[in-house]
Amino acid sequence: MIFTVAIDGPAAAGKGTVGRAVADHFGFAYLDTGLLYRATGRRMLNGEDPIIAANALVPDDINRHNLRTPEITKAASVVAAIPEVRKELVVFQRVFARQSGGTVLDGRDIGTVICPDAEVKIFITASNRVRAQRRYRELRKKGHDMDIGAVFNDIRDRDARDSERSTAPLKPAEDAAVLDTTNLDIADAVNNALQIVKSRLA
Ligand code: DC
Repeated sequence: MIFTVAIDGPAAAGKGTVGRAVADHFGFAYLDTGLLYRATGRRMLNGEDPIIAANALVPDDINRHNLRTPEITKAASVVAAIPEVRKELVVFQRVFARQSGGTVLDGRDIGTVICPDAEVKIFITASNRVRAQRRYRELRKKGHDMDIGAVFNDIRDRDARDSERSTAPLKPAEDAAVLDTTNLDIADAVNNALQIVKSRLA
């Protein structure tokens, strides 16, 4: 069976949590496409040309490194705005998406550019305030000592870079179901997403 669930949305809206839960529930393969941009950003910070780096990614780039540091997070959104970097990463994502057995991909342009024919498209969002609070708690748990104002500004700047770039900007596909998780806990957000997928599988 070829069946793709495309999940897009801004930072810290819950895409990863929901995407992983949907993949686990249905036994689908899962790809966090942000890791491709993070791995490219890490290589750029090490002095590589970002386009060559995107072309040269190997599984170790994603599996072996801590790609969630604030520096790599920023570098990822910088390289993600380079059209040639995005182009280098398209084929890998499309091949992953159309492997048999069902897939879930989360990112910013999955329903609009990578898989415009995905069987299910979900755009997950939440208010800026709630997303900043979630990211703040996550960073604190990992031992980062940041103040919430800085986290809020960081999310706002990253959203602006992701939404205002000319190639594949962050926006909902016209046929995406919009899931606003501002007032939902994880279980409710996951349940909503599962219902959307089930209704398309039926
Ligand atoms: O989802 P994330 O925070 O790990 O994404 C890291 C950066 O990569 C973020 O600035 C958006 C960008 N990105 C993108 O442009 N397209 C994707 N499909 C996934 C992520």
